[in-house]
Amino acid sequence: MANKKSTSRASVRSVGGRLSAADRDKLVMTAQDVRGRAYAPYSKYHVGAAVLTASGRIFGGCNIENASYGLTLCAERAAVASAIAAGHQTFIAIAIVTENLSSLCGACRQFLSEFNPAMAVILADAHGKRKVHNLRDLLPESFGPNNLKE
Ligand code: THU
Repeated sequence: MANKKSTSRASVRSVGGRLSAADRDKLVMTAQDVRGRAYAPYSKYHVGAAVLTASGRIFGGCNIENASYGLTLCAERAAVASAIAAGHQTFIAIAIVTENLSSLCGACRQFLSEFNPAMAVILADAHGKRKVHNLRDLLPESFGPNNLKE
């Protein structure tokens, strides 16, 4: 659906629990949809992401490039920014859709870990292939908010 809004509600909630197949599918569908709105005139590499909040909401984001290159915003961080701005700070899972089932960059691993170091990370390609990871395995021994507590 080309004009679907990038925020929606997961049909099956999975607060703190295992991610249902329905949630996974919905998350991937949203990420795929938002990927179609990526602004990537330089790399031409389109990425879509969608986060599932603890309350069952889904927020999407796409990569946004810039002529100054270094200001490029990854899709994962755009999705989180959208959720945070709407008042949601706990994420159960993220789906990331690319052309070739790519994993996420190190900066995004750290950015996501801030909000839940153990969230599910679903990688998907544009042809239906998927891989599921736990963020902990992608960013072991991470630095986070607890390190700043006395
Ligand atoms: N990109 C993402 O959106 N997420 C990642 O995790 C890796 C890279 C984007 C940034 C840039 O617009 C394009 O992919 C090529 O690096």
